[in-house]
Order: sequence, then C-alpha cells, then structure tokens
Amino acid sequence: MKVESLNWEERYQAGDIGWDRGGPSPALMQWLDDEAVKEGARVLIPGCGYGHEVIELAGRGHAATGLDIAPSAITALHQSLNDISASRSEAVCADLFDYHPSERFDAVYEQTCLCTMTPTEYVQYEKKLYGWLNDGGVLLLLLMQTGDAGGPPYHCDLKEMRQLFDPSRWAWPGKAPMIISRPKGPRFELGFVLQRKS
Ligand SMILES: C[S@@+](CC[C@H](N)C(=O)[O-])C[C@H]1O[C@@H](n2cnc3c(N)ncnc32)[C@H](O)[C@@H]1O
Repeated sequence: MKVESLNWEERYQAGDIGWDRGGPSPALMQWLDDEAVKEGARVLIPGCGYGHEVIELAGRGHAATGLDIAPSAITALHQSLNDISASRSEAVCADLFDYHPSERFDAVYEQTCLCTMTPTEYVQYEKKLYGWLNDGGVLLLLLMQTGDAGGPPYHCDLKEMRQLFDPSRWAWPGKAPMIISRPKGPRFELGFVLQRKS
C-alpha cells in the first residue's frame, strides 16, 4: 500500500525535509543509556529517512535495518553505512506494508512514521510492528503530539494509542513517558518502551 498523500521521494529530492533532526534523536540516546536495546540486537527502523538512528545503532554493534520507501534517503543511508563499515546493518528500500523479513527483530524503533498515517492505516501498521518483533521484543515508540486536528503529522492521541497497542498484545511501562521536543516548533513526542507479548 502506498501513501498517496505525500510523495516522499520528491520531498527528499527537493530538500523539503523539515522533520529531519540531522542526528540521532535524544530519545534513542537515552534508551541506549538505559540499555533498553540488548547488546548486538537486531533492530528495525521503519520509515527511517536518512537513518541517523540506524547509523548510531550500527556504530554501537547492533544489526540495524533501516527501511524507507524513498530511494534517495535509502541510497544516502547505504553510503553512510558503508562509510562506517557496518557489515551487520542494511538499508532497505520498500513499502513497509510489503516488507516481510526472513527473521524477526529484537527491537523496532518507531519515530515519525506512524504520525504520517491515517487511522485506517494505524491498524495495519500495528499488525506489522507486532509481526516483525520476537516474543518479548521491544517497541521503542515515539508518539507525535501536535495538538492539532489536521496532518500529517497527525496527533497521536494517547487514549487512542493505548487502544491501538492493546495491552493484551503489548506491555506498557508503568512509568511516565519521556518527553522529546521536535527540532522546530511547539510539537513534541512522548516516548514509551512497549514489550511485545506472545
Ligand atoms: C516524517 S518522515 C520521518 C523520517 C525519519 N523517521 C525521521 O524522523 O527523520 C517519514 C518517513 O517515512 C517514510 N515512509 C512513509 N510511508 C512509508 C511506507 N509506506 N513505507 C516505507 N517508508 C515510508 C517516508 O519516506 C519518510 O522518510
């Protein structure tokens, strides 16, 4: 399924990528400090863009897979991974809804991909996230908070997200979420580590 509302490749080619931080998110850095990702883990980043988080994970010895539909972003990421000789990591150009890896992952990092989707797509995306993870694997989940009705990016309402990531399938943490500001403007993200239940 293609997201028709935005032509991602054109945005990359035009340099119209206001979402790009230019480096890994502070959320990932905190989760790595907290050892939320186990040593040498297989980690998937769907909708990774230029993949700053993929490069950070690969540089720390994880087997990171960056997945994106935009060829320009994936070509650039492929080059960055070559530059650091990250032989266990890869950059894959595909529509995430058609992505069927041969092995599951220990962790998935979700940042600003979910918030580009409509609620109908959310449901299919949750199934993909669940299916990509091993039992007990972790979903490092950043939920965009815009406070606005429109999008993309769409506001990820916490009540709705708790229904989408149903507690019968996902263990939610008991503690308060991490609050991560966006590079520009008043938007922010709420960060949660969810564990996939079997
Ligand atoms: C808002 S950008 C965020 C990029 C990156 N996560 C970041 O935070 O810099 C959304 C990304 O998701 C990718 N994307 C959107 N729909 C996709 C799909 N169906 N399959 C794979 N990638 C997709 C886009 O190409 C784009 O790079």
